[in-house]
Amino acid sequence: MIIAVDGPTASGKGTIAKALGAHFGLPVLDTGLLYRAVGYQTQLNHGDADKAADALAACDFPDSLLDDPALRYETTGGLASRVSVHPAVRKALFQRQVDFANQPGGAVLDGRDIGTVIAPHADAKLFVTASPDERARRRHAEMRGRGVDVSVDAVLADVHARDARDTGRADAPLLRAPDAMLLDTSGLDRDAALAAAIAFVEERAKGRG
Ligand code: C5P
Repeated sequence: MIIAVDGPTASGKGTIAKALGAHFGLPVLDTGLLYRAVGYQTQLNHGDADKAADALAACDFPDSLLDDPALRYETTGGLASRVSVHPAVRKALFQRQVDFANQPGGAVLDGRDIGTVIAPHADAKLFVTASPDERARRRHAEMRGRGVDVSVDAVLADVHARDARDTGRADAPLLRAPDAMLLDTSGLDRDAALAAAIAFVEERAKGRG
């Protein structure tokens, strides 16, 4: 079974994808991490994330980079969102994601274009979202918990900037697939959101026979 989990930044899609993987016994790929690795490698190369050639050169980052805590930094998320605009970068990362999705037994992938581009044939697709204010509030609380001193307004501005870049790009923009379940987690706690996601996937799995 292939499960696609898409949604904007800080929507909770990563948490839901991991929990679905644990529940259904499936491996999980956080595809944002691949774009983060490219963004960070571009910086390590002293390249410019807005230049397609520099970003493409960073696509052969070493696998060990995927374990680097620096990939989780907000600044790396910003770099990821810039390199992900280039079609050549998306193409370079395409096959790796498709192979992960199509492995025997299935998989869970979370990202922006899983249900639309990487695995349009997924058995269950979720589009996880929440209002920008709620996403900024959550991200702010999480950052403060890590000791990062930042204002909610700054985080909200970043959420809006990333949304604009992710939905506005020409190649594989952030888009809800027509057959994806819309899961708005604004008024839901983690357990309620997860219960709704599991119920939906089980329903889809039953449909497969
Ligand atoms: O999900 P995460 O915030 O880690 O993703 C970082 C950035 O990578 C996103 O803002 C988005 O621009 C890009 N991305 C993408 N396609 C994906 C996953 C992430 O363009 N499938």
